[in-house]
Amino acid sequence: MSTSGKRQYLFIVEVAVIRAALGHKHGVGLPNLTKIWGNTIFGHDLTIMPDLDSIYKPHGVIAEAQRLAAEAFKADHAFFMVNGTTSAIQGMLMAALDPGDKVIVPRNVHKSVVSGLILSGAEPIYVQPPIDDYLGVVRGMTTDSVRQALRQYPETKAIFTINTTYYGMAPELEQICELAHEYEIPVLVDEAHGAHLAFHPLLPPSGTEAGADAVASSTHKLVGSLTQSSMLLTQGPYLDPLEVKSTLNLTQTTSPSYLLLASLDAARQHMSLHGKDLLTETMNLANWARHEINWNIPGLYVYGNDLVGMPGCPAYDPTKLVISVRALGVSGFEVERILRQGFHIQVDLSDLYNVLCVVTIGDTKETVRALVEALRQIASRFKPRDVREEKITLPPIPSLAYLPREAYYSETRKMPLTQAAGRIVAEMLMAYPPGIPLITPGEILTQEIIDYVLSIKEQDAHIYGTEDPTAEFIRVIR
Ligand SMILES: Cc1ncc(COP(=O)(O)O)c(C=O)c1O
Repeated sequence: MSTSGKRQYLFIVEVAVIRAALGHKHGVGLPNLTKIWGNTIFGHDLTIMPDLDSIYKPHGVIAEAQRLAAEAFKADHAFFMVNGTTSAIQGMLMAALDPGDKVIVPRNVHKSVVSGLILSGAEPIYVQPPIDDYLGVVRGMTTDSVRQALRQYPETKAIFTINTTYYGMAPELEQICELAHEYEIPVLVDEAHGAHLAFHPLLPPSGTEAGADAVASSTHKLVGSLTQSSMLLTQGPYLDPLEVKSTLNLTQTTSPSYLLLASLDAARQHMSLHGKDLLTETMNLANWARHEINWNIPGLYVYGNDLVGMPGCPAYDPTKLVISVRALGVSGFEVERILRQGFHIQVDLSDLYNVLCVVTIGDTKETVRALVEALRQIASRFKPRDVREEKITLPPIPSLAYLPREAYYSETRKMPLTQAAGRIVAEMLMAYPPGIPLITPGEILTQEIIDYVLSIKEQDAHIYGTEDPTAEFIRVIR
């Protein structure tokens, strides 16, 4: 019988502690903050002591909480993380790969993957998932692209993928796992936007359900644990849990926040007991909004079943409302601003063409209705137009001259982006749309990339990753 809905071990131990060896001593030493927060939170802000176990070498309550989490998330092992999914992603890349090892990676990776490549010293073999021309977003990774890369580089040591993309599109994960296991290599999954997937059969399969070997799961994003808490889940024969733990300990703090750890334990219990019902309600709310927006608000469009079956979209997460505002002739950034300033609604993400609203277990009929009503009012201020023929043409993936780690450790200098064609860059440059790095450390900058950056800057798109926030300058290898 499943025990993953069991009581919260970390909570129970916490309330038994009377005085913790922390500077603030239950808030007494920080009265200006207790005035606002009260004492409760300080009473739970504890640190390592015998009853509370050790994150470094769990054998007590943390070990038991992790065991219950592994069961709940359908993995063999769960490792609690207190430095975000970034550290889980870096840890799984470092655990699975040695310097110089090849890893197949979709191009639309988060910057934590680029830093994981620098830390591990691995060589990325980038594959380009299909791009949805109308939405201007990247879909999931396809089995064919992985098969082709494996044929070209049979010495590959791991496959990295994202389940689901920020925009809710699933990769062909079960097939990718089967293929990887034929080559006897692990699949590593960034599940920053899929911590809820394991808790409802109508959602796309979670990484662990699909057979992946390591899954970095942002519990803080979608199942309610506190910001910065996360989990690394592992299963199967390819990754030794003891080695994984040793790798995580390289960067894990020795003073983890028990507020974060307890929230992971509480989220596990809540989802085990109520996850399916909560997610049924969440999906109903999201689907109601999807229907209302598509049928009753001219000029707006939210994708749904219409994309299922297209390359890179075998399934999608209905809780992600990707609201395309292109036909209103206004940018997603502008709609985000109006929603925040005019309606006090903060969306998850916006890009040139879309605003992304994630409906979660914390939403209610009222919050979702308020969003739909605000969108109705905003849409009525613009005149819909036909933009179906306007397509995004991305520059090709540039060639890799240095490994990301070599580029990072090389001597570099800043130079104007417009003069850097042909140079090897030492930093990442990413733009929305389409939410993929245009260049990553070690790659050779092309004129096509420079022209693309200039053209999307003119349209007010956001550019990220470079040390210079305006991306006027880029760091290149001397
Ligand atoms: C796809 C993806 N992967 C990884 C991360 C990193 O997660 P965290 O912010 O918890 O470190 C993010 C954060 O937004 C993300 O969007």
